[in-house]
Amino acid sequence: MPGASDTAELLARVRARPLPRHVAIIMDGNGRWAQARGLPRVAGHRQGAAAVRSVTRAARRLGLEALTLYAFSIQNWSRPTDEVEALMLLLVEFLEKEQQELLTNGIRLNAIGDLARLPGQVAERLAAVRAATAGGQGMTLTLALSYGGREELVHAAQVAAASGRPIDEAALAAGLWTAGLPELDLLVRTSGERRISNFLLWQAAYAELYFTDTHWPAFDERELLTAVADFQARERRFGLTAEQVAAHEGGG
Ligand code: IPE
Ligand code: IPE
Ligand code: MG
Repeated sequence: MPGASDTAELLARVRARPLPRHVAIIMDGNGRWAQARGLPRVAGHRQGAAAVRSVTRAARRLGLEALTLYAFSIQNWSRPTDEVEALMLLLVEFLEKEQQELLTNGIRLNAIGDLARLPGQVAERLAAVRAATAGGQGMTLTLALSYGGREELVHAAQVAAASGRPIDEAALAAGLWTAGLPELDLLVRTSGERRISNFLLWQAAYAELYFTDTHWPAFDERELLTAVADFQARERRFGLTAEQVAAHEGGG
């Protein structure tokens, strides 16, 4: 297992190069992590919540502007009632326990999704922590809760249509739940699946994708830094040729 000094060295190396402004993570594999240990799925979710804490801390230490975590999809409402209830309880517990640390570290809590579907207790805690941390300047932590990318696009189209103005790219972007966040640079998915599962469909247009076999509960600072280092080694071309990109970078 790599030691703390290796992680510190990796952190220094990653910090020395341009960082992605906005990283999003599809936190998958809680169930499989638990299953592999003969534990109930909810034990995986509990360990997953601990990973959210440590990865949030690591992202802040690294200096990311925005971290967006896919915690619960609209489609996840169809899971067994017990599991949904356990997830909602864990969410309340997370919000209660983290408020102080978020405040201390200047982290603004944000949430995206069809939040009206959340149980009252969750919605209240969420609103309270969002209000308390609204002034946070260090990083925006966005939890995607009851989130779906298609549903978000429908919402954005409705907002744009209701405005009565022409529906162009800017109008749709303004109606997205993510309006105001930086462009998505890096999208990570844990646990070996290579799919988007209805996450940030619009925002992922030019995001770099990174997949790891690590289950979410085992994802840590080192894994985050490894993903960012991988991002930093890539050339983003946005439809241009490599020569054009080089000329643009050379010209500033
Ligand atoms: C991700 O882990 C957490 C949620 C989707 C809420 P899963 O619960 O999907 O874990 P697997 O994919 O079954 O292992
Ligand atoms: C995506 O994971 C949703 C979250 C991580 C919250 P799922 O486990 O729900 O996705 P599928 O079912 O494998 O596509
Ligand atoms: Mg899954």
